[in-house]
Amino acid sequence: MTTLIKNGTIVTSQRTYRADLLIENETIKDIAESIPAANPERVIDATGLLLLPGGIDVHTHLDMPFGGTTSADDFETGTKAAAFGGTTTLIDFAIQPKGTRMRDALDTWWKKADSKASIDYGLHMIVTDLGEAGLEDMDSLVGEGVASFKLFMAYPGVLMVDDATIFKALGQTAKNGALICMHAENGGVIDVIVQRALAEGKRAPIYHALTRPVKAEAEAVHRAIAMAEISGAPIYIVHLSSEDALNEVREARDRGVPAFAETCPQYLLLTVDELARANFEGAKYVFTPPLREKHHLDKLWQGLREDHLQVVSTDHCPFCFKDQKTLGIDDFTKIPNGGPGVENRLQLIHHHGVNQGRLNLNRFVELVSTTPAKLFGLYPKKGEIAVGSDADIVIWDANADHVISAATHHMRVDYSMFEGFHVKGNAKIVLSRGEVIVENDKFIGRTGRGRYLKRQARGGAWS
Ligand code: URP
Ligand code: ZN
Ligand code: ZN
Repeated sequence: MTTLIKNGTIVTSQRTYRADLLIENETIKDIAESIPAANPERVIDATGLLLLPGGIDVHTHLDMPFGGTTSADDFETGTKAAAFGGTTTLIDFAIQPKGTRMRDALDTWWKKADSKASIDYGLHMIVTDLGEAGLEDMDSLVGEGVASFKLFMAYPGVLMVDDATIFKALGQTAKNGALICMHAENGGVIDVIVQRALAEGKRAPIYHALTRPVKAEAEAVHRAIAMAEISGAPIYIVHLSSEDALNEVREARDRGVPAFAETCPQYLLLTVDELARANFEGAKYVFTPPLREKHHLDKLWQGLREDHLQVVSTDHCPFCFKDQKTLGIDDFTKIPNGGPGVENRLQLIHHHGVNQGRLNLNRFVELVSTTPAKLFGLYPKKGEIAVGSDADIVIWDANADHVISAATHHMRVDYSMFEGFHVKGNAKIVLSRGEVIVENDKFIGRTGRGRYLKRQARGGAWS
């Protein structure tokens, strides 16, 4: 199958230029000012449109058990919703139940994704327990393409691991080249504050945010980076939410430490006030770390601009308001933590970043596609528009008007965190490995066509 995309404007992390692009089967075969249409099966006229490398969302939770329920999108609905928004690769999290082998968790997540994923996907492993063989298991998972591991400094008794475990895992990645992704919040301190709040009868959603202070995030980021530095391993802070935490990352990077961090659209665009919504609607915004005061938002945008933050992911972890968030109607600690967003990342960052003059187009591409590919072992197959790369291409209409709403989105969840947000810029046609999977606002790919991506560990080549 050959597809010729004519007259588009290619945007990479490095440059923006007009060119034709030829796809043969799954890969980009040629890019040139003008490519004659010598019998391609399909010609797409992209006049006035941008060609972006497919979005890569390195932080999603599909079909994930949490707090007695399961996230509302599975690999079928979640990957389709992602595709509608221009994301053609995601990296989800397998979870090692305590006392079990990581390999079993990998099999479990392969089963969840296999025959359901419609875009390509990788898996991180959430390590809850190193046990006897955990460090060797980490090495063998790297051999299976699991080039990153998430550890929790929060959720004591459930997912949290102690500093010794973190330090051992970091030491292992210093040798095997994988990347530790850290959920950095001081879980012990937060738990004490939460118990005090409950004892005082404070049970509404807003107390989720008020019991998780910014300093509990910044302290954990500082500690995580210090442990990484002692181990000689790189570190990646997930869902960074505050200026104070950002300062810790910036200070480390300024000293040349290979510390990286992502933030998410919700931390860039929403504030803690959302959790005070009436009629329990604040529960829609309960996730960790929590939303912060308004003054943090500009600092995070500045961090993205100045490369103190390298990635925008979504932490897509949807729970329906009616049937799932209400598990915590009498007690904020029982509200399943997480919010939906996999479909809206490119729209929101393009509109509020590029259109508002906070980011240029190339930096936008770098944040949502190229750097995620580089950090997580997928580059240059993914995250790039170049000859030989996978033909994961988003034909982007920078002038398309769109209003985000649960009434029209494709995520299997009954609300949107960004309900009513107007954005200019949206995916018009989405190709995954050369195949058009979204066109005319319809998913036309085959369910289950997505492939597991065996990712490369970087082996210490961090810059
Ligand atoms: O509240 C959140 N973020 N839920 C998803 C799990 C995590 O910590 O990333
Ligand atoms: Zn987390
Ligand atoms: Zn998450």
